[in-house]
Amino acid sequence: MKKFLDLGSQPLANSYINYKKLKNKEKKFKLTVGFDPKNYLVSILNTVPKEKMFNENYPYKSSESFTMRKSFKDLSINIKKKFKSKLILEIGSNDGAFIKNFKKKNIIGVEPCKNLAKITRKQGYKTFSEYWDLSLAKKISKKKKVDIIYSANTLSHIKNFSEIFKAVDLSLSHNGILILEDPSLLECIKNVAYDQFYCEHIYVFSTIALQKILDKFDLEIFNIENTKTHGGSNRYFIKRKSNIFYKKNKSVNKNINLEKGYGLHKFSTYKKFAKKVLSSKNQLNKIIKKISKNHKKIIGYGATAKSCTVLNYCNIGSKEIDYFYDTTSYKIGKFLPGSKIEIRKYKKLNIDEVDYVFLGAWNFKKEIFKKEKKFIKEGGKFITHIPFPKII
Ligand code: TYD
Repeated sequence: MKKFLDLGSQPLANSYINYKKLKNKEKKFKLTVGFDPKNYLVSILNTVPKEKMFNENYPYKSSESFTMRKSFKDLSINIKKKFKSKLILEIGSNDGAFIKNFKKKNIIGVEPCKNLAKITRKQGYKTFSEYWDLSLAKKISKKKKVDIIYSANTLSHIKNFSEIFKAVDLSLSHNGILILEDPSLLECIKNVAYDQFYCEHIYVFSTIALQKILDKFDLEIFNIENTKTHGGSNRYFIKRKSNIFYKKNKSVNKNINLEKGYGLHKFSTYKKFAKKVLSSKNQLNKIIKKISKNHKKIIGYGATAKSCTVLNYCNIGSKEIDYFYDTTSYKIGKFLPGSKIEIRKYKKLNIDEVDYVFLGAWNFKKEIFKKEKKFIKEGGKFITHIPFPKII
């Protein structure tokens, strides 16, 4: 693994701080990112034990945004149309944004964060509050194999994926398929979205890297959909190599060619990216300094895990950003890790109260701009760092 990016000392991105604990010393870890030229895998170099991140306090809820709810709904319609599946399983079912589009008897959720699993269980969906592994796969598929396994934004969180794929193989039916969805490395590199790297995102996958991993488990990608979620993601449709039921779609080679064309197989591409990240930090600080000098008020929008990386890497804190708005009830009243900026309950932006808004949830720009039409019309401004720091 060759290191190419150093994002400094970072707290755990989803460890929002209670007011009472604000003075306590936070646990930090070194956030560095590397590239393996042998398998093209890009990953963070120091990882945090999963139990420290995915527990009963996990704050992230997929259902918070219209964009995510719609994306899962559209996929469920497609699955029902294209695949004859009797039983579907979702690994990392979160608060049920995907599974609630299916009949309860047709879908099973797996969600290790107990607070989230409780939500879908209450709604009547069978949900296992455990990590996905061989023993759980055995338990689930003892009576009936699964036709589709879906997992979004989860594989990138799991360090050792060898057991994951073995468990998938064990539980999938003969012609069963696996659908994986994760942020696209190509989009991340193109957009200088260095905030895709934080403790939970151990990997940011490219097609070329994922295919190398899948090869070891006799699996292959037969179709790829490029989606807009999480700043540009890939939805990979995967089958056993022995499964001749599905033909390889043109999209697979198209994505591979795009990635190779951009140089995702070369270390030099990542070195260039690291330079752009440094310049992004300098530019963002310049913009913020200039606004502060003019005594204008900046707040943040969307207290994301991604913001944690940006704020801590760029040394931006409560002196620069007054507070963040977020809709997630668990985050409200707490403080962002590291930067210790207060998170307040979201209310519509008002030009009489704020001048500039740092777009923490830049991946929901469209949805947010639509919501804040009035603020924008009245001269309110946003600050974004994607693809480069600017005021919009
Ligand atoms: P997201 O970007 O999905 O995740 P991550 O934490 O993985 O970087 O998180 C979006 C956050 O933004 C979430 O806390 C909800 C919040 N949010 C709002 O407060 N208002 C909105 O209109 C939207 C779309 C999101």
